[in-house]
Amino acid sequence: MLNALADQIALQIEWGADEYLMDAPQDRRLAAKPPPPISPAAVQAIRSPSRPTALPLGPTDAANIAASCTTLDALRQALAGFTGCALRDTATQLVFADGAEQAKIMLIGEAPGAEEDRIGRPFVGPAGLLLDKMLASIGLDRSLVRIVNTVPWRPPGNRAPTDAEIAVCLPFLHRHITLINPACLVLLGAISAKALLPAPARNTGITRLRGQWQKLEIQGLPAQIPCLPTFHPAYLLRSAAAKRESWHDLLALRSWLENHA
Ligand code: URA
Repeated sequence: MLNALADQIALQIEWGADEYLMDAPQDRRLAAKPPPPISPAAVQAIRSPSRPTALPLGPTDAANIAASCTTLDALRQALAGFTGCALRDTATQLVFADGAEQAKIMLIGEAPGAEEDRIGRPFVGPAGLLLDKMLASIGLDRSLVRIVNTVPWRPPGNRAPTDAEIAVCLPFLHRHITLINPACLVLLGAISAKALLPAPARNTGITRLRGQWQKLEIQGLPAQIPCLPTFHPAYLLRSAAAKRESWHDLLALRSWLENHA
């Protein structure tokens, strides 16, 4: 009896039975059915989903948006709503500008720091206090100048802004300059000089570049604009020896202003 049972099981195995129980009988002689073809409508839906993924905004979009701003208020609003720079996501708020709208001098720093991010105005922390003293030493104050940065949001941890972050914000900075239409620019530090100046100046270190007047072409300005690169006040706070050279640059700025009154 047991032998007969074993023979039957062996026969089942020979026929392909490899499981003891199945929910439904299975005819293994039939080939597996191919999956039904995907309908053209489904292919189309995959290729062009009804909710298209938004591409991140880049420098070209920034240039178009900036060019459409005809007032400083419009520029501020456009920047506040601009999603093409990831710094916006980590910053507390936009740090647009400080100072006069009809300024003769525009000072361009690097990026907002912790205090600027908290208050929403550029150069209000320790470097800003030194900048105020530097301006006062040549008879200026911030109500007479325009102060901006290469990027208007604080980079996390006060790191330097990346080339990509600067590039996507640059059209807004250029537009800011054309809307203010100053007589000259003061480029505070290496990052600002590199962001704005063309080669070969942009590839020259700030130690060699500082104090040397440069000319800059900005679309929308009536003529090339003179720019004076100089040390960043934050660098002067760390390197007292550089204050002497910085003082020479301030005197050069004062005499330029006297000659272009
Ligand atoms: N440093 C900058 O470059 N900009 C600021 O606004 C503050 C510190």
